[in-house]
Amino acid sequence: MTTLGTPLSPHATKVMLLGSGELGKEVLIALQRLGVETIAVDRYDNAPGQQVAHHARTITMSDPAQLKALIEAERPHLVVPEIEAIATPMLEELEAAGTVRVIPTARAARLTMDREGIRVLAAETLGLPTSPYKFCNSLEELQAAIDSGIGYPCIVKPVMSSSGKGQSKIDGPDDVKKAWDYAMAGGRVSHGRVIVEGFIDFDYEITQLTVRAVGADDQIVTSFCDPIGHVQVSGDYVESWQPHPMHPAALEKSRQIAKAVTDNLGGQGLFGVELFVKGESVWFSEVSPRPHDTGLVTLCTQHQSEFELHARAILGLPVDTRLRNPGASAVIYGGVEAQGIVFDGVDEALRVPGTDLRLFGKPESFTKRRMGVALARAEDVDTARHNAKLAAGKVRPRKA
Ligand SMILES: Nc1ncnc2c1ncn2[C@@H]1O[C@H](COP(=O)(O)OP(=O)(O)OP(=O)(O)O)[C@@H](O)[C@H]1O
Ligand SMILES: [Mg+2]
Repeated sequence: MTTLGTPLSPHATKVMLLGSGELGKEVLIALQRLGVETIAVDRYDNAPGQQVAHHARTITMSDPAQLKALIEAERPHLVVPEIEAIATPMLEELEAAGTVRVIPTARAARLTMDREGIRVLAAETLGLPTSPYKFCNSLEELQAAIDSGIGYPCIVKPVMSSSGKGQSKIDGPDDVKKAWDYAMAGGRVSHGRVIVEGFIDFDYEITQLTVRAVGADDQIVTSFCDPIGHVQVSGDYVESWQPHPMHPAALEKSRQIAKAVTDNLGGQGLFGVELFVKGESVWFSEVSPRPHDTGLVTLCTQHQSEFELHARAILGLPVDTRLRNPGASAVIYGGVEAQGIVFDGVDEALRVPGTDLRLFGKPESFTKRRMGVALARAEDVDTARHNAKLAAGKVRPRKA
């Protein structure tokens, strides 16, 4: 039985989000609707999720001492990581001591915080199909890895990075040094180590949202959302849609892979499993043990969005992963470097049939920063994609 409390009372059910960007903001809103007391943590003030939570805290989440002090002071029932750059060994310590429960588990947060833990687990422990890969600590090791089997073309990524930062494709020997230097400039926290992956010439890529929630008999039940198709530019998502049509054999394989990975990571919550598909072949790419950016589309396609699914699953509540209607999302970038920007054309955007908008409220805009997203539902995915892009294009961010 799940019992929820009253926020701001002695019996509140308290949840702390570690990372409070646009994805965390939607999880927080879903939690607020269930009367959960929320604590939004980020590295800067007025982050999107901090604007909708009961409490806002600003710390360096990769600093174990700061993280420990905050969790011990706030004593949340659940800690929900929204980003990768967190002192996850400290979360493991606090979880082991019984201080707090980490979503989905502290081990899952540690394994997915860099590309190495999760890739070794998927490819070597679980034997799942992935691109060929090698980890390298220098330009010389990178060249040797390419020469001794990875070959061209290949992709180099810092071991710790997301949203395509520091990532580039190598087409031939002339690109190797450039890719290494670019990775060194774009990595996060642990500079100096990269993964080089053989390039998979896929037909399309999907996100398989997968939910581990408690069923009627108190056992964990795994359920799947319809596949989400997406387009990435320089490793960053620009457009997504649902459902993405798939060959039944490829869909079956995708779900087997998603089940194997999420079974191993364990715990309760929603996962975004990224997969490459060519014909009936499927490769595992990576997994987020939390809502996925391409899954923003579910705000307009499912009975319960990925954020509501996550909120319900972590609280021990039942979930419904069914699609309601086809839809699409298109990213709105800042386009300018400025604080406190304004958005022209919001009315024009919302006049496009079946559309909705999320403007995240980020205090500072960068040219390539994701500031909002346009959503469109329609009879079919093609119309939805067209309308989402149309609406996104009508929103014009500018300096105030
Ligand atoms: N081995 C590969 N072969 C072909 N394309 C790839 C490969 N690895 C990555 N890509 C492309 O680059 C995109 C981003 O890669 P990946 O997901 O590993 O990076 P990321 O920085 O974690 O991105 P995000 O945080 O947005 O998920 C993939 O979605 C895919 O389009
Ligand atoms: Mg990815």
